[in-house]
Amino acid sequence: MKEINRRLKILLNWAKEDKKYIYLSILLGFLAGLLIMVPYMGIYNLINTIYTGTLTKDILLKLSISVSVSILVRYTLFTIAEILSHKGAYNTLFKIRKKLISHMSEVPLGELNSKNRGEIKKILNEDIEKLELFLAHHLPEVVMYLTGPLAVFVYLFNVNMGLALITLIPLPIAFYFQVKMFKDTGNYILEINDVSNNLNSTMIEYITGMRLIKSYNMTSSSFSKYKEACHEKSRLWKKISSIMGPNFASFTIFIEFGLLILIPIAGTLFLKEVISPSIFILFLLVGSLYLTEIRPLLEIGGHFSQVLSSVDKIEEILNLEVFVGGSNNFPQNNTIEFNKVNFSYTGEEKILKNINISINEGQRTAIVGPSGSGKSTILGLVARFYDVDSGEILIGKENIKSIDYTTLLENIAIVFQKNFLTKESVFKNITMGKDYTLEEVREACKKAQIDDVIMKLPDQYDTLVGGHDTRFSGGEQQRISIARAFLKDAPILILDEATSNTDPENQEKINIALNNLFIGKTVIIVAHRLSTIVDCDKIIVLENGEVTGVGKHHELISKNKYYSQVWDKYKLSRDFSYGKGDIVEE
Ligand SMILES: Nc1ncnc2c1ncn2[C@@H]1O[C@H](COP(=O)(O)OP(=O)(O)OP(=O)(O)O)[C@@H](O)[C@H]1O
Ligand SMILES: [Mg+2]
Repeated sequence: MKEINRRLKILLNWAKEDKKYIYLSILLGFLAGLLIMVPYMGIYNLINTIYTGTLTKDILLKLSISVSVSILVRYTLFTIAEILSHKGAYNTLFKIRKKLISHMSEVPLGELNSKNRGEIKKILNEDIEKLELFLAHHLPEVVMYLTGPLAVFVYLFNVNMGLALITLIPLPIAFYFQVKMFKDTGNYILEINDVSNNLNSTMIEYITGMRLIKSYNMTSSSFSKYKEACHEKSRLWKKISSIMGPNFASFTIFIEFGLLILIPIAGTLFLKEVISPSIFILFLLVGSLYLTEIRPLLEIGGHFSQVLSSVDKIEEILNLEVFVGGSNNFPQNNTIEFNKVNFSYTGEEKILKNINISINEGQRTAIVGPSGSGKSTILGLVARFYDVDSGEILIGKENIKSIDYTTLLENIAIVFQKNFLTKESVFKNITMGKDYTLEEVREACKKAQIDDVIMKLPDQYDTLVGGHDTRFSGGEQQRISIARAFLKDAPILILDEATSNTDPENQEKINIALNNLFIGKTVIIVAHRLSTIVDCDKIIVLENGEVTGVGKHHELISKNKYYSQVWDKYKLSRDFSYGKGDIVEE
């Protein structure tokens, strides 16, 4: 109960001023519940007048009108309650989603990566959606289904105290089965949550890996992880149903059990003339049935804790740490230094070992090395996607941890290995939500050698990405991402050069675009292409997380084993490429 209270408080806190709609819908639910009493009162009056021989047309008419009005008012109150609760619920859901998205945008990438994508998707979609069920339906309905029987009980209590108390006998028994059902299924419900997360993430893996699956002609059944997750979910639900079934049946039977007790007890009292015939019939008709009104509560109760556990899931994301504080003044000098930097993703395997490097302001520094040696990791650390385990990273002698995170990211432009395009216009894909004019965007695209391609699209810059005519090739996507970097015009530029070979014409365009982009910037580039590498002011060789050489091209050829081997191979065969991660000719 304490837990339910705590979560409710958090939820209403998120709802802020929309709380009022939810409270109002609860109040209307309460009033609608009270009105259940009117038909029952009508039945009693009717029986009474039949037995006393005072039933007239007039009484019949009055009774019919009062029952119809009560039903109509109840219907109206309930409709308004539903409208208000939905308004409150959807406004709250919108606020929670906004809160989550804005928080996630501030959480460092490493923290987000620690959660699997399926879990995040489930929280953003299903868990938040469950709260709609709770706020819009469960809250007002619980109040209504509870108030109704309570009001009838108070009425019966007024009529005959003793018999009214007897009608309550089935309640604890039925309640026992309900509690038992929740207890017995509680752990399985938690397991279902985990299994759903797993199912979600394997589904995402399955969909994103579809190309691979098709190209290797793997059938869907060969994707065993997904199949197993489906099986597991179905196994759990079968188990839960087998526990729920008998308990649910017992609850239903016992809640209707009243008649069995009332016939002998009220009957004896009637025969002994302790109670009047109208009270006898009233209790037989109403006393034995009014508790069944609470049956929907069982269903709602079954979801209650599961739905409210969504609050915990949402909190898990909101509690992910964000970088706070730091100076808003970005250092004037953009020299980047790594001092004794050690780093691991998992806390176990060291990915970077005692890295001491400097990337000089206004120069081009390349990082080369075999695949998996930690090149992209170095770039990620500069943008503070992750924090170092020990050592420090300085920009202009200032530790990046003492620079405000947003300020840091504003001063670094990143061109990723994988370029992400969203289903929006080409224009929006380049501006990334910032305010730029079409002229500015076109200027950047011209420098990035992509303007001519875009101008040939059906709607030019307004063309929707991902449509029929807008499947950009890898090289074109890369140039779009270079255009983004042009627009951002940050003093520090981080590039993770794609390892795959593009055609010479594309490569030529990319080279021109990059050379334009590099002007006046501090550039750190993970490079695989010899043409990019030889022109760099400094080349850092990284092998197995350690720096094994620093220098210019001609220096490294003579003093670095890895570099000279790659150079020899290149000279041996101009057409030979050395696979992912190694240096390739173009
Ligand atoms: N998010 C992550 N979680 C755990 N391990 C990771 C993560 N990202 C990378 N690694 C591991 O860290 C090591 C270095 O990866 P990194 O991506 O830095 O290599 P790289 O030199 O850029 O390779 P490539 O040339 O293939 O791009 C690899 O062993 C990789 O498996
Ligand atoms: Mg890499």
